[in-house]
Amino acid sequence: MATFNEKRTCSERMQNFGRFVWNPDTGELMGRTLIKWVYISLYYVAFYIVMIGLFALSIYSLMKTISPYEPDYQDMIQYPGVTIRPDVYGDDGIRLIYNASEEKSYSGIVKMIRNFLSVYNKTTQQEMMNKDCSNVSDVKQLLMAGERLKYACEFTTDMLGNCSYEKDKTFGYASGQPCLFLKLNRIINFIPDNKTSPTIRCYSKKEGELQEVEYFPNDAFGAQYFPYYGRKTQPNYTNPLVAVKILKIMYNTEMEIVCRANGSHIISDNPHDPYEGKVTFKLNIQK
Ligand SMILES: *[C@@H]1O[C@H](CO)[C@@H](O)[C@H](O)[C@H]1NC(C)=O
Ligand SMILES: *[C@@H]1O[C@H](CO)[C@@H](O)[C@H](O)[C@H]1NC(C)=O
Ligand SMILES: *[C@@H]1O[C@H](CO)[C@@H](O)[C@H](O)[C@H]1NC(C)=O
Ligand SMILES: *[C@@H]1O[C@H](CO)[C@@H](O)[C@H](O)[C@H]1NC(C)=O
Ligand SMILES: *[C@@H]1O[C@H](CO)[C@@H](O)[C@H](O)[C@H]1NC(C)=O
Ligand SMILES: *[C@@H]1O[C@H](CO)[C@@H](O)[C@H](O)[C@H]1NC(C)=O
Ligand SMILES: *[C@@H]1O[C@H](CO)[C@@H](O)[C@H](O)[C@H]1NC(C)=O
Repeated sequence: MATFNEKRTCSERMQNFGRFVWNPDTGELMGRTLIKWVYISLYYVAFYIVMIGLFALSIYSLMKTISPYEPDYQDMIQYPGVTIRPDVYGDDGIRLIYNASEEKSYSGIVKMIRNFLSVYNKTTQQEMMNKDCSNVSDVKQLLMAGERLKYACEFTTDMLGNCSYEKDKTFGYASGQPCLFLKLNRIINFIPDNKTSPTIRCYSKKEGELQEVEYFPNDAFGAQYFPYYGRKTQPNYTNPLVAVKILKIMYNTEMEIVCRANGSHIISDNPHDPYEGKVTFKLNIQK
């Protein structure tokens, strides 16, 4: 009885399904008349056209608002880092060790510095159309190169005084009074407050190890170099430098030196980013 019942139900189901797929009485295909299917298809086609249109419109308006003269993405708050040349890395960060009596221990460093400073050659800076901003009251006006193009203030090696190749062919390495070159990372539209220049101060972690230093051109990054407008607007911008000449130091001693930037909008006490606002390195000048 049961099996008979099941059989009937099964064949009934098959029949029902067949009628569902194509019902010759009502002319319905899958439960709908052909004309209804056409309407539904048209509805979905229209629906997707509108969706694609909205999507394209939003992408288009997004692209319109992104200016190529602005950075694509920038954190809300950014603080500049400090970098140093020569940047000779040891196992745990920058480690500058050389023997002032052995030329081959520092000739590579001198080469590296010459290479690094080549962009600051006066003729190179002039070719890049960078402007002499000293004694200029309206730097903004001087830097206008076009509607969206800007010149940059020049930074030339003669500003580095005793840390320039012209004054010392080994940048002080041969005499045991080496020069180190510091720069701030570029941050677009970063302006030190109130036109005060960010300053640099280098000191040894242990007091007394680093006794006397001299800064060129002085201990600050000139305010005229800020803000940096970005690579598209200001293609030939070169970072200003502070050269630190070590005048008096304990020789044959490995010491830890910190060069710290100070100024508004600069922080140098972030435990998660040791290079933010400062640079720490090991130094050992042997004689
Ligand atoms: C600067 O460039 C000029 C010409 O290219 C060259 O004669 C001069 O030696 C360079 N100066 C430095 C310090 O490299
Ligand atoms: C950038 O420097 C190049 C030469 O290196 C020069 O042709 C160009 O005009 C300069 N652009 C600006 C905006 O100063
Ligand atoms: C800028 O002014 C100082 C002092 O007023 C002067 O010694 C120097 O020669 C001037 N520099 C330029 C490029 O005019
Ligand atoms: C540069 O070095 C020379 C010789 O070592 C020294 O007489 C002079 O005072 C130094 N210049 C500065 C600005 O320290
Ligand atoms: C900027 O300078 C003005 C006066 O010169 C002073 O009142 C203001 O506090 C300064 N702002 C900052 C952030 O130092
Ligand atoms: C940093 O600069 C501020 C003024 O901008 C000054 O008051 C403060 O003493 C400086 N700190 C150091 C460690 O030099
Ligand atoms: C530095 O080099 C000189 C000359 O080669 C050598 O006498 C001296 O021991 C070296 N100093 C150190 C600390 O290695």
